[in-house]
Amino acid sequence: MITLRVNGTPHTVDVPPDMPVLWVLRDVIGLTGTKFGCGMALCGACTVHLDGRPIRSCVTPVSAATGKSITTIEAVGETSSGKRAQQAWLDVEVVQCGYCQSGQIMAAAALLAAKPHPTDADIDAAMAGNICRCGTYSRIRAAIKRAAAG
Ligand code: FES
Ligand code: FES
Repeated sequence: MITLRVNGTPHTVDVPPDMPVLWVLRDVIGLTGTKFGCGMALCGACTVHLDGRPIRSCVTPVSAATGKSITTIEAVGETSSGKRAQQAWLDVEVVQCGYCQSGQIMAAAALLAAKPHPTDADIDAAMAGNICRCGTYSRIRAAIKRAAAG
């Protein structure tokens, strides 16, 4: 049995310690907002926060999250940076198909929490690993800047 704290709520789950956090979130706990893209830490669709830092949940074993705090897209709006990011995403109408956007917002929220006024270089560095097959990159950048200004 492994106990995790997800979005402020403790969950005790009966899973192997090497099961990826993404599997636990989606298939065991039922939080499906975090997406499976590549499963190889290459796309960022599965990004969640572990103690406030962005991680690729598809390659993070659940044992590495024991005793730590996980935040997912379902609750990131309860944080200051997450709330600003989500509102900016709506204002700028970032989303196209939407599949990558949970991960994009999680990465952006972590960036804004660490650097409230990120430079273009900061944005490039923080968002480089989050792939969007719809090519919404320019709107993502605009939304991050709007969230930083707001
Ligand atoms: S699904 Fe985790 S990085 Fe692509
Ligand atoms: S909005 Fe479609 S993959 Fe990013």
